[in-house]
Amino acid sequence: MSDNYYTLKRVCEIYQTDNIKQRITDLETSSTIPAAERFRSGAIFQKGWKSEDLSLIGKQVGFFNEIPRPIAMAIFTTKGGVLKSTLALNLARISALHGLKTCVVGLDIQGDITTALGHETSEDDTKDMREIISKLNLIKGLPDLFNGQGRLHDLIVPTDLPELFLIPETPELVAMNDHLSNIHRREYWLAEKVITPLKEIFDVIIMDCSPNWNKLTTNALVACDVLLSPLECKINNFRNFKIFDHFLKEFKQDMGLNFKNIFIPTRFCHNKKLSMEIRDWYQKNVQGCTSSGIRESVQGEEATAMHKSVLEHAPTSTVSEDVRNLMIEVVNRLQNMQRDESDFVPARRAVNKFTNRSCINSLHSFI
Ligand SMILES: Nc1ncnc2c1ncn2[C@@H]1O[C@H](COP(=O)(O)OP(=O)(O)OP(=O)(O)O)[C@@H](O)[C@H]1O
Ligand SMILES: [Mg+2]
Repeated sequence: MSDNYYTLKRVCEIYQTDNIKQRITDLETSSTIPAAERFRSGAIFQKGWKSEDLSLIGKQVGFFNEIPRPIAMAIFTTKGGVLKSTLALNLARISALHGLKTCVVGLDIQGDITTALGHETSEDDTKDMREIISKLNLIKGLPDLFNGQGRLHDLIVPTDLPELFLIPETPELVAMNDHLSNIHRREYWLAEKVITPLKEIFDVIIMDCSPNWNKLTTNALVACDVLLSPLECKINNFRNFKIFDHFLKEFKQDMGLNFKNIFIPTRFCHNKKLSMEIRDWYQKNVQGCTSSGIRESVQGEEATAMHKSVLEHAPTSTVSEDVRNLMIEVVNRLQNMQRDESDFVPARRAVNKFTNRSCINSLHSFI
């Protein structure tokens, strides 16, 4: 199959909802979704949709239902390599593949989510170094907004999915992290200058944090409605979790924050007894721990390397089943949280100055 096209079979494998094949066919007949195009695959012709059409299909037949109000999620825990950025990538792509306007805000100086979303900061095939440097200098990030050298919409870049955008990490984030300490209301800069305005435009905002408690992280915690924290099912993280949980509770109390916590077991192995025992312990004892998680998996690693969610890369794999179940559980929790909140928060459509399409068009015209 051509990499650029998704056949009906492949689309059904990605979303896997009830009676999906018939529903897609009916939607195509009624022109609610674009008609599948003919494409050449080796010696034969097949029919399929381009990746940019998937969000229209996912919106109609998918499992990641609309969230009533815009939501900002931070992904953070004080342990490295536990699938924070992987979770950010999968959550962002799956949300966008369901037609939700999604923006990822990169807050880790390692720049992993920026790389994972395919936003290359190096131009390997460009020979001229001056050209590379001038191209790099054109990439704006949060430090440009912080220093008054750019507006918010100058920082937002498109990705290969029409509903998915990114504020990329740039090297100056290191200095910005230091300078945040010197400003008035230093924990609130991100919430006030970035996340609140983004909620006027996007349905879902995802902040990918580094594993350190730094100023960028505390800004993300202040700005988020929900904190997602992977819990690696390994003995070292098991110890780390108790300390993290303690600091988190203290920080929330000191700052008067009431974001919700979702803990997600990651990197468990079904054939390792200790790993499964740790997962079971988390699920029984950690408040807010999901019943689904993300297992240790080569396909998971491959998907990230290919800049895709596991559902796009290997939709029938066991890790995709994990991620699909996890996303269903997370989106249900988000919907319940918003339902439980007071009715004082205005409905998204009422505060949004833009219509869906004109918003995306205006963003595209800025970029
Ligand atoms: N299901 C999986 N099983 C094992 N490894 C995976 C899986 N999915 C992704 N990976 C790989 O695991 C590595 C670490 O993942 P990731 O970068 O998401 O962790 P992180 O918590 O963001 O790390 P850091 O703290 O450095 O930011 C990456 O190389 C990623 O590609
Ligand atoms: Mg990371």
